[in-house]
Parts: sequence; C-alpha cells; structure tokens
Amino acid sequence: MFLFPLEQVTAAAWAVTGSVIIMGFNMRYLELKRKVREVRMWAIQGIAEAGSGHPGASFSAAEIMSTLYFHKMRHNPKDPLWQARDYFINSKAHSAPGYYSTLAVSGYFPPEELKTLRKLGSRLQGHPVRYSEHQKDHSLPGVEYSGGSEGIGLSVGVGIALASKMDGKKNRVYVMIGDGESNEGQIWEASMAAAKFKLDNLVAVLDRNRIQQDGFTEDIMPLDPAKNKWEAFNWQVFEVDGHRVEQLVDALNKASQVRDKPVMIVANTVKGNGIRHMANNPQWHGKAPSKKQTPVLLEELESEYFIAPSIIAGEKENYEDKIRKVEREGVEMIHLDVMDGKFVPNTTFLADTIKRLRRVTALPFDAHLMIENPLKHIDEYIDARCDIITVHAEACDEDKFVQIQDRCLAAGISPGIAINPKTDVPEWLYPHISNVDVVIVMSVNPGFAGQKFMPEVLPKMVSVNKKLREHGFRGYIEADGGIDSTTLPQVYDAGARIFVAGNAVYGNVDVHTAVIQLRHKAAVALERKLLDHSTRIGIRGDWMKARKHILIPYASELGIEAELHAIK
Ligand code: DX5
Ligand code: ZN
Repeated sequence: MFLFPLEQVTAAAWAVTGSVIIMGFNMRYLELKRKVREVRMWAIQGIAEAGSGHPGASFSAAEIMSTLYFHKMRHNPKDPLWQARDYFINSKAHSAPGYYSTLAVSGYFPPEELKTLRKLGSRLQGHPVRYSEHQKDHSLPGVEYSGGSEGIGLSVGVGIALASKMDGKKNRVYVMIGDGESNEGQIWEASMAAAKFKLDNLVAVLDRNRIQQDGFTEDIMPLDPAKNKWEAFNWQVFEVDGHRVEQLVDALNKASQVRDKPVMIVANTVKGNGIRHMANNPQWHGKAPSKKQTPVLLEELESEYFIAPSIIAGEKENYEDKIRKVEREGVEMIHLDVMDGKFVPNTTFLADTIKRLRRVTALPFDAHLMIENPLKHIDEYIDARCDIITVHAEACDEDKFVQIQDRCLAAGISPGIAINPKTDVPEWLYPHISNVDVVIVMSVNPGFAGQKFMPEVLPKMVSVNKKLREHGFRGYIEADGGIDSTTLPQVYDAGARIFVAGNAVYGNVDVHTAVIQLRHKAAVALERKLLDHSTRIGIRGDWMKARKHILIPYASELGIEAELHAIK
C-alpha cells in the first residue's frame, strides 16, 4: 500500500494548488506508474534525438528516481534552492537522460527540452552540472551535484547529511549509486564515515542492474552479496525489486523510521527495463536507438500492462495463501471482488477482510465494489487501504460518484468506475473522466467467477476506450470476466491494459504456468502491435533486426519464421 501515515500529508493540497509543490506527497499508485512511463518516454526521445546517451541506466533507475521525486522527497520545482528541501545526489551520473526527464516531469523545466540533450549550448549535457543562479544557461534547476567521474556522490551526500545534522536541520539526503560504480574504493570510505557519524538522515539507493560499461558486474568485479557488505559497514539495509514502486515506497517509508544508522536500499533492477530488446543487454549501456524507431519505442513504453488475479475464483482456500501464490509469480496487483448479495446475487467479503489481507502484501489492491450503496461505505474501503476503488455506474449517479471520487483522490487512492455488459458510459461521467484512473468494461454479468467471456463487449471496449481518451481519460481500461489465454489478446487489442484473471489463474492447478501463459499472450499481442507499427512507418526490417532475439519465441504465432530467419 502506498500511503504515508495519513497524519503526515493530505492529498487535497495537490488538487487545490495545481502548482507542483511536492512535500513528501502520497501519489496514487497508478499515477506514479504513469509518471514513470512519462520519464522513460522523454528519456528515449532525448537519447534518440541526440544519437547518443545511456538508455540502460536511465531505464533501470526510472522507478527509483520517480518514487523519490513524485512520492517521497520534499522539494519545490518553483524554488529549486528551497532551504528545507531534501537533496538527491545522482552519483551514477550517466543516467542523466532519465534524471533530466524526472526533473522535467516534476516541473523543473519543460520536458520538450529533453530533445536538446547533448546539443551544443544545451543545459542538458551528457553528465549533469550542478545548478547555480550564476550559470543559469548551462545548468539545470534541481541538479544538486555535477556528476561524471563516478564513486564521489556518496561522499558529497555524507557531507550534506553531516552538515544538516550539525545545523539541526531536518533535510534528508538521498544518494543513488551504481553497482559498477561500487568498484570505486571511495564509496566504501564514505560508507564507513556515514556509519561513524550515525547519519540517519542519509539514504543511499543502489541501482543493482548487474551491468556496467563493459559487461556484467559479477564477471568484472563481483559485488554480491551486496546486502551483507553494507550491513557489515553498519548500515540498515532493505532489499527490494527496484521496478516495483510499492516496494520502493515501503522501503523509503521504513527508512524514515530508522535511527542512528544510515540506510541502504538495494534495488534489484534490470538495465534497459521497459524496452524488451534493451533489457539486461550490456550493449545498450551507452548506445542510442535509431531515431526512426522512436514512435515504436514510445508505443512499447505506453503498453505497460497489469495482471490482477481475482482471489474469489477457484478452490475455497484462504485468501492469504492465494495472494502469496500469485505474488510469487510476480503479478502486478490483486483484484478484490466485493459482493454484498444485493447489487449482485452473491456475497464474498467486505472491507474488514481487505483490512486483514492488507497485512499480507505490499502488492497494490484493486478493489471492485459490487455493492448497492458505494457512497455509504466508501470510507471503509479507504480505511482498508485499497490502491484502486472501482464502483459501478449502475449503483451511483453523478453526485454520488463525484463525492466518491473526491474522497478517493484526497486519500491518494485511484478512483475507478465499472460498467456492466449492457451499460454504456453514462454522459455525466465525461466531465469527471480526467480524474478517473480505471474504467472496468465488464465482459460477464457481475456476480461470479468462472463465467464465459462475452465477445459482444469487444466493439464496445474499443469505442469506450477511444471516446474516453478523446475526453481526457489518461487511465487504464480494465477487462474483467472470463479473461484467459484465448480472450486476453482480444481485450488487449481492444485497448485493455489491466487484465483480471480469476478462473484462468485459480481454476488452474498450476498457478505458475497459468500466469506465464497470460504473460506470453500479452507479449505476443504487444509484439504484433509493434511489428504492425514498424511496418506502417516503413521500418519493419530495421525493427525486426533490432528485435530479433525477442521475436524468436513468438515467430510461429506471429507467422514471421521465414522472415525472421532471413534477417542476419
Ligand atoms: C465477476 C467479478 C470478476 C470475476 C473474475 O463479477 O467481477 O472479477 O471474479 O473471474 P473470472 O476471471 O473467472 O471470470
Ligand atoms: Zn471483478
């Protein structure tokens, strides 16, 4: 779950001010995911435009930097030298394109400026220059440290943290380091000093992507076991999946509670994560994709999807085990079907059960309320700490929905709305759609798992997706009901990106294979779309060449075996 202790911040501040004063702010899970996406999209445009730059590190660190800038750190893009700000030291400075995009999407400068990356006279050079009022044309607001030669940033962070402590200031200092960079001895000197001075206002995050300039870290200078090393240097260490924003938020919140010790977050990441042929591939450390591929790469980055198993499906076993089973399979969220026996002819569980399940996992909770009077009960589901709360259009009118939406937004929770197979999007929803994060287009009549998918909803899903986006919808279409490895590609093509899977996962004895099959089908649907796009813009051959090792496993389903084989 995503929230800071509620007494610390109120989300309302955001909606009212409109200007970006980020003060340790709880951003909605799906909104943070959207921001991370934007960061990658601006970074790749800058790198492709420049014809050089570091996509690998920009992408492995995207969630780390986004979670800090959009969720955790106190900073103010309108006042980059604000005295009470938290500091971010990017010690692995070659991740500059990703760092610049994070600053731009935060509001420090217009994101379009990313397209001047590495150009003569641009403020966005290959490695960042610390911001100063005296050299406004050559430095970027928000940049705290001039990086380049690695191994130094942590020492700078130690200095700032120690000075803040000596001045009795509350600023926190965050330093991002690399695992290749950890070959540098200075890092370990700084590490000892931080422990010596009990710098509990210092948090270092290790972007553990296991690749450095010339290969895999464990081949060049093994760093494993990284966690034990930092613990041995008297740091409090947390280890997370560095692409799971909910885990990063969890670790950063725990770090704020640590006393008398500096904190290290070992974030296990994938270099180039987000673009499948760049992922975990050393050649994309410092190489730019061809500019003509940019539109296809942007479509891939926009195509992120989520698998959300519905725990009411399958055998009657305890929900905790069901959640743990799919968490092990790396699903993105848990779908919680709340049924009151009135709105639908079935009862499942209510907010108290969700509250209990909240302790089992940090995975985002996607609550689907099939209840008669959602406004009356909305606070119970907010208190139960769901990340997404979707109510049915058939169970509320405009006034009720707007109240529900406002309460969710104020609590940093994504509001969603669901429509049954025979229901169209109500006209009253359009003025409020820009603040709706999820629209469920039901493909069964609600009430039970294990029902047959209704293909007649597909054309509706296509037109709903189109019309909502025309009215400013920036969220996700969720497909719910009868989704399995046969129907998933169909709803994928119709625009859905959140896939609820009940029977397809829990009706299957082997949950592992079931999840892999769904991911495989989503991957085939994605590759088909990207291939079609590359064909439309006349770069099919070039794209297939760059993508060859990714396409091979899907060649027969895509019908491209001979074509792929011919590409050398
Ligand atoms: C139905 C629920 C669905 C259902 C999904 O009312 O909203 O989430 O549990 O289960 P499957 O995937 O089996 O249709
Ligand atoms: Zn559902």
